[in-house]
Amino acid sequence: MKAARALIVDDDPDILEVLEMRLQSMGLDVALAKSYQEAVTLLDGRGFDVALFDLRMEPVSGLKLMEAAHERQPRLPVLIMTAHGTIDNAVEALRQGAFDYLTKPFVPEELRGKVSRALSMRRWTRDRTLLKAVGEALGSSGTMDRIFDAIAQATVEATEAERAVVFLLEDGRLVPMASAGVASRSIDDLAGTAETVIERKIPAAVTDTDGRVMLGAPLFVGGGAAGALVVEARVEPTADDLDLLAIFSSQAAVALKNTRELERLRSGALAALGRMATQVAHELRNPLGGLKLFAEFLQHRLGKAGDTEGADVAGKIDREVDHMTDLVREITQFGRPGSLRRVPTNLNGLLESCLALAQARVTGKETRVSLELDPGLPPAALDPREIRKVFLNLIVNALEAMESGGTVTLRTRRTEQGLIEVAVEDTGCGMSEETRARIFDLFFTTKDSGTGLGMAIASAVVEQHGGRMEIRSQLGRGTQVRVLLPLGAP
Ligand SMILES: Nc1ncnc2c1ncn2[C@@H]1O[C@H](COP(=O)(O)OP(=O)(O)OP(=O)(O)O)[C@@H](O)[C@H]1O
Ligand SMILES: [Mg+2]
Repeated sequence: MKAARALIVDDDPDILEVLEMRLQSMGLDVALAKSYQEAVTLLDGRGFDVALFDLRMEPVSGLKLMEAAHERQPRLPVLIMTAHGTIDNAVEALRQGAFDYLTKPFVPEELRGKVSRALSMRRWTRDRTLLKAVGEALGSSGTMDRIFDAIAQATVEATEAERAVVFLLEDGRLVPMASAGVASRSIDDLAGTAETVIERKIPAAVTDTDGRVMLGAPLFVGGGAAGALVVEARVEPTADDLDLLAIFSSQAAVALKNTRELERLRSGALAALGRMATQVAHELRNPLGGLKLFAEFLQHRLGKAGDTEGADVAGKIDREVDHMTDLVREITQFGRPGSLRRVPTNLNGLLESCLALAQARVTGKETRVSLELDPGLPPAALDPREIRKVFLNLIVNALEAMESGGTVTLRTRRTEQGLIEVAVEDTGCGMSEETRARIFDLFFTTKDSGTGLGMAIASAVVEQHGGRMEIRSQLGRGTQVRVLLPLGAP
């Protein structure tokens, strides 16, 4: 491991010489400066682990220098030295953020003791920050994006870097997944560093032609590098910085592996659940058929006998059975989507009929509907029976999201890519990130009487048509679902 770095600033060259010797004998890498200006130049160039500043320097005092140092390296421990030690001076220095206070002439044991204490305090502060950050990153299980965000954020905080970016290799391309801090150079520059460390398979510092420093560490998942964590540093990093980055990248790798595994597990479990549901639904079909016959028979008999109340109840049973049969049909069809029967379909007309149906289903709400349908929309080769399910579900969801009223907007247009876009927008409750991540899961619902099938079916149908769905949602503000469909079969 590289030596810790010390910066000593004093306008007395004799003092510099003595201190240099003493700190070198402690195994430190020592830099010297005779003035404020020299010191600031050094501080701008590289990171230090400990600093010793003379209190009385002309024209700028050691306390002012400490301020400048902390602007550049906020957690740098500074020892203030003076020949004219007074309690007042010491108190003032500590109040302004000095780590400790040294009086000249130095007692070697005191000097050694205070410098080592400063160094271990620095390590301790970093470790604490690190532990806290890592804990938070781990605690933020859930979606992949969130984990990467947490790691980028924690890296910036713990390394005092300007920016941290997490890159992942996807199909041989480096994709930035999360970024924290302030951007001062292009993502491409950082991607270059990511490439270098992935190739070398070890954390490294890369200095570019302008003298800017970037640190990178590869992310290893299951043997190979899956990406890299890259940090843009203010100053040349210390050995600690590289160690820290290595720890963070292994943390990111663990989070990545866990989340991937979790997603795989979840989709496996879902598929199994789906198969079971299909089987159960299948078993329900025959008894439901029987129930319907009996209910019809009852309704007929009671009606003939003049028992209108009884006939009414039997009619209700009949309708509920119909509802259950529909549900069962949807579940059984979900498992094995049949082939599409594409015919030229006028989407605007289909949307209007879905809207009428949906409004009949979700009643008693103060909702306004705004139609922005492109009259020049060409007919598309779609299976209208299937596509109807998509928009019926989306519009019902939109209406259900507006407990206390609002506006649903239906919009159609032809995109520049020649696709047909249908947007269903509401000004309703919106979704949390959790809901957004699980919305297509079979049986995922947040509603008391929901089945959690709507979006799963809608996305399956859209996919079968060779289209895709994009969702944007803001909690408390509303949701926009855009369905993009090709004009014809692929
Ligand atoms: N427009 C929307 N606004 C807010 N949340 C929505 C919206 N659309 C879907 N959701 C959320 O996604 C969940 C899943 O939707 P999905 O349509 O699959 O099931 P559901 O509406 O709960 O039940 P159903 O099977 O009756 O449609 C909903 O429970 C709801 O939390
Ligand atoms: Mg729904």
